[in-house]
Parts: sequence; structure tokens; C-alpha cells
Amino acid sequence: MDSTHHDRLLIIDFGSQVTQLIARRLRELNVYCEIHPFQNVTDAFLTEFAPKAVIFSGGPASVMDEGSPRPPESVFGLGVPILGICYGQQVMMQCLGGKVERGHGTAEFGRAYVTPESKLSLLEGWFLTDKEQVWMSHGDHVSEIAPGFEVYGTSPNAPFAITADVARNFYAVQFHPEVHHTPNGAKLYENFVRLAGFSGDWTMGAYREQAIATIKERVGDKQVICALSGGVDSSVAAALIHEAVGDQLTCVFVDHGLLRLNEAEEVVTMFRDHMNLKVIHAQEQELFLGELDGVSDPETKRKIIGKLFIDVFQKYADQIEGAAFLAQGTLYPDVIESVSFSGGPSVTIKSHHNVGGLPEKMGLRLVEPLRELFKDEVRALGRELGLPASFIGRHPFPGPGLAIRCPGEITRDKLEILRKADAVYIDQIRKHGLYDEIWQAFVAILPVRTVGVMGDGRTYDFACALRAVTSVDGMTADYYPFSHEFLGETATRIINEVQGINRVTYDITSKPPGTIEWE
Ligand code: XMP
Repeated sequence: MDSTHHDRLLIIDFGSQVTQLIARRLRELNVYCEIHPFQNVTDAFLTEFAPKAVIFSGGPASVMDEGSPRPPESVFGLGVPILGICYGQQVMMQCLGGKVERGHGTAEFGRAYVTPESKLSLLEGWFLTDKEQVWMSHGDHVSEIAPGFEVYGTSPNAPFAITADVARNFYAVQFHPEVHHTPNGAKLYENFVRLAGFSGDWTMGAYREQAIATIKERVGDKQVICALSGGVDSSVAAALIHEAVGDQLTCVFVDHGLLRLNEAEEVVTMFRDHMNLKVIHAQEQELFLGELDGVSDPETKRKIIGKLFIDVFQKYADQIEGAAFLAQGTLYPDVIESVSFSGGPSVTIKSHHNVGGLPEKMGLRLVEPLRELFKDEVRALGRELGLPASFIGRHPFPGPGLAIRCPGEITRDKLEILRKADAVYIDQIRKHGLYDEIWQAFVAILPVRTVGVMGDGRTYDFACALRAVTSVDGMTADYYPFSHEFLGETATRIINEVQGINRVTYDITSKPPGTIEWE
């Protein structure tokens, strides 16, 4: 099954930060869509693509600026439904004979409320109360609608918040129905694809086929290398690319000695033995731990690990003859986060490490097959690819590994203790059936030793902190409200089973003000 057997929706991208969210809403409705930048959408392209419906995205330009983006005129003659969003609405009005004006106090940024004018099939399920919350982000506004259009909703600063030419099936909204701040926005897309006649037969299985075909075409007969971390993203990317190009993919698993108990063996066994991937297990524990010896500053630790990671990866990659592509498990949120909304530099709270910069240095091109997906979609794709459920549901694990869960100096002894304590804690969470409710849980070993008494003897061992948070994206987080029984039982188990720890604390800091990791 490939995309050509599906009804296709075309999203013409005018450069909005949130265009991908439109695609996401459509995928949730099992509708096949493709995003194409407006420059590429020519008459010939439209004929070949043959969309069943078209959406114009938002965008940062002003339709009054010379040379501002436009769709080809022929799009209006296709006879298919068109939905224009924000800039897409303005450009639609401009092209069809309406008028757009600059701000003059009518700009709207943020939450706004739209009230209905009259009934419209696009708005089915809307206005069950007297108004709908929407997200606006516009400087210009439509001052005169195009002939044939009527108004179906207004907001204080957008008298033409919702307009439509029902006869031609053209719809235009000033707000962004794709973002969460338009709580009922998904319903608009649902109505739009229903009235366009989509059957909703596009599934994650179909996405997989499509992604495989794209990878095959891009990579051809060249070699691909991939830094496999054992995390969900790089694992799903590797599995997908392996399905597409088989042995042309070689994965490098960098073992920096900062992994969890049995983690390296589990990852290598799964990929090498069960999935038949070519995996190089780069055993570089000595190198990393040697360089980290005596270092206690968190940023210095991160920088050392990040730099060594790149050096090591490059060393192994250089041994792979003919490597032309670097695979990365970049997700859509990484793509948007890397673009600063304000256009200005943002403060670095922690320097995250990745293999950015490597491709240019090594003359590699990128394959990023997960660029359009969100985390939950990556998990669905992973299931589709047959990765074990226990693996797909794993909590995130940071690139610098246990180094940032060991505040102060890192020693092998501390790492050993930390691994054991973490394993007991996670075992407890799984036994109590709480693992999937929690975004991330781990132990941090603290740089203090405290006095205790066990049996008749005095102990002087490390204290540790348990961390467990709920979150949707790791950007903000709440501590998980374990019961006292759970915490008591876990503390007892850790102290009994892990030599070297005699005190257990629970971290009840949310993010912000704390971060999830301790460093
Ligand atoms: P913080 O500690 O900043 O963490 O609240 C947010 C999420 O990011 C993970 N994290 C990292 N992931 N490389 C990564 O791949 C890193 O350097 C890194 N630092 C933090 C953290 O585990 C949490 O999920």
C-alpha cells in the first residue's frame, strides 16, 4: 500500500511555525497529507499531485509586501475544498478579490473568543456554548471579504474570523485551529476532511510504507550510519531505516560507561541478535570515565561528554567505508524548538549533547525519518515495526546518562551503587503498575554520606534521591504523588539490597523551578 492509493490532501506551507501541527491533526484523522512549500507548488505540481483538498498554512509574511508568498491561481480552479488559515486566509481573500489591511490596532496575539454568525457545516460541533476559544496570531487583518464569501464567526479584533464561500467549498479562518490553545480546533479539521470526502484510511502502517519508500529513494545504494542510544527515537529510526536499506545501515552504540544496569547488553542483544542490525558496540568507558575523573561542575561534565561522544562516533564512523548519510532520530518538537519564536537568542539552561555539527564536518547528509512525528506517534511507529512494547514505553534517558544523576565527582563506586539503586526503584515502580503513568523516574546519588545504624552497627554511606515526574513533553513537569507506603517500601528495599546507601529521600520539586535531571 503506498500513498498513491490514498486520497491526498495538500498543505501549502507559507512558513508558519506550526504547519506540522496541521499535518498532525490530519494524521489523527487518518488522512494522508503532504506539506509542500509554496514555491514548489506550481500548476504542473498541482496536476500531478491531484489533491482531494488543499489547506493554506499560516506564515510570517504580510500579503501587502511585495513578492509575498502566493499559491498558484490554478489552485482555485481545481474544484476541491480549500481551507485557509491565518496568512492562508488573508492570501485567499487577496487572491479572490477581497482586501487585507495592516494592523492599526487590530492585531491579535494569543487567546481570543469567536462568536457565531450563522450555521456552517465546517462548524458542526462548535458553538455548543455561545463562544469558542481560539488562538490568534496576526498583525494584518482582512478588511473586506472576497465576493461569494460570507461571515460565519467574528472575534473582537477579527470581524472576519470565520468566512466561507459554501458554493465553492472555500473556507478561511483567521485563527489557528491546529494548536492546543484552540481547544475545539481538531473538530474543524474533522469537519473539513469529512466534507471533502476523505475516508480516513491512512494509518501508521501506511506511514511506515511511505517512510520506507522515501528513505530508499534518498539513500539509494549509499551507506548510512546511525548513533544508536537505546532510546526510543534512535531505536525506531534505526529499525525503520534498516527495513528500508538493510545492511547499508551500520549503527554505532557508544558505551560511555554511564549507562544503567545491563543496558548496553540489552540494547546490543536486541538490535544485533534479534533484529539483525549491524551494530558496533563502542566500548569507550575508560576514555569517558578517565576524562571525567575529578570533574564536578555540571556544565563541564556535559561538555566533556558531548565532545568525546562526537570524537568517538567519528572514529568509528570513519571505519565504515562509503558512509554518506547520518541517520538521526530528530522529532518534530526538536525541529520547532530549534527555531526561536522571538528570533532572539534563548538562554542555555543545560547544553544538550547530540551529533549536531558532525554532518558538515564529515561531509554527511542527514536522514531524519521521524522529523514529522511526535513522541506518541514514534511509539506507534515502533510498535508497527515490531519493537517490543517494553522497549517502546521506556522512559527518556539523557545523553550524558548517569553523569548528571551523580552530582559532584563521578566515581566508579558511586556509579555502581547508583545503577543498583536505580534498578530496584524501577523494579518497584513496575511491580506497582506505575511505570506507564510516569514520564520519567530515576535515582540520583547524592554527594553526601550520612550516618545510619543497621543491625547493631554504625553505617556511614551515601544518601540518594528518588525522582519521578509526570509531564507531556519534558518542558514542564510535576513530581509524581507516590503513596507513603510505596515510598517506605522502596526505601527499605534500596537500603537492604544496595550496599553503599543508607538514606533515601524523595524529590518533590516540580519543573519549573527545578529541572527533571539533577544537573
Ligand atoms: P531537564 O533536566 O532539562 O530535562 O528538565 C528535560 C528532559 O531532557 C532530558 N535531558 C537530556 N536528553 N541529552 C538528552 O538527550 C541531554 O543532554 C539531556 N539533558 C536532559 C531529561 O532526561 C528529561 O527527559
